[in-house]
Amino acid sequence: MQMTVDLSGKQALVTGASSGLGAHFARLLARSGAQVLLAARREEALAQVAAQIEEEGGSCRTLRLDVSDPTSVRDMAPMIAGLDILINNAGVVRESSALDHAEADWDAVIDTNLKGSFLLAQAAARAMQAHGRGGSIVNIASILGLRQGGGVVSYAVSKAGVIQLTRTLALEWARYGVRVNALAPGYIATDLNEEFWDSDPGKAMIRRIPQRRLGRLEDLDGPLLLLASDASAYMTGSVIAADGGHLVSGL
Ligand SMILES: NC(=O)c1ccc[n+]([C@@H]2O[C@H](COP(=O)([O-])OP(=O)(O)OC[C@H]3O[C@@H](n4cnc5c(N)ncnc54)[C@H](OP(=O)(O)O)[C@@H]3O)[C@@H](O)[C@H]2O)c1
Repeated sequence: MQMTVDLSGKQALVTGASSGLGAHFARLLARSGAQVLLAARREEALAQVAAQIEEEGGSCRTLRLDVSDPTSVRDMAPMIAGLDILINNAGVVRESSALDHAEADWDAVIDTNLKGSFLLAQAAARAMQAHGRGGSIVNIASILGLRQGGGVVSYAVSKAGVIQLTRTLALEWARYGVRVNALAPGYIATDLNEEFWDSDPGKAMIRRIPQRRLGRLEDLDGPLLLLASDASAYMTGSVIAADGGHLVSGL
């Protein structure tokens, strides 16, 4: 089923648009009529996604951005003056046991996922406050921000932080018409993790999901468009899980 919402005339920024969920979200928003600014560090990969969007009849620009670098975020300001929608999606994961987790890995994950989400939300909200129309910020969290999983301590903590960031900013920025919500995906199949899901531990993990399947990128379309568009005009501070029931799996 292809979801549609009319976002014509809206300007959207998607971070981490060079691959995976971010590239998918950028295409989805462009198909819905938004003008999309695609941001990430890998410019060649961004150009490929942009070419795909243009082929599909969409309108977009690209920007080299490091979300963890305040100067890079500050330099972006002139490009987002008319921003209506931010999809705060850039994220990294570093896997290891908590006992072995390196400080550099902790810093990379927290700086990208948590500090980066804050810096981007702040830049977006400043633009939205200045143009006076408000807007919608969608933070991409994870079910690992709401439940526990082994081997990803900094990632899980960063995503729990993103959820509290969502609620706190929703409270502060409602007065400016800026809505802040979070989407918490469960395990989504992408090109990057395909091999793991074919392995025995991967298959065992899928058996623990009540719907007994991985999510597909398209499974996020409805929740993403809901939160990005005026269909969620009276929602702020919400966290929507799209996880095949993983969060409610039985003990
Ligand atoms: N896949 C899943 O099952 C799943 C489940 C729950 C939540 N999520 C969340 O969804 C988001 C996207 O994940 P994904 O699976 O699509 O992973 P992915 O394919 O590795 O994409 C991550 C994106 O983040 C960008 N990025 C990383 N560090 C950045 C930085 N410092 N500045 C700017 N961009 C940066 C990467 O682009 P560059 O390398 O070009 O900078 C890339 O486009 C993440 O927040 C992740 O936590 C994913």
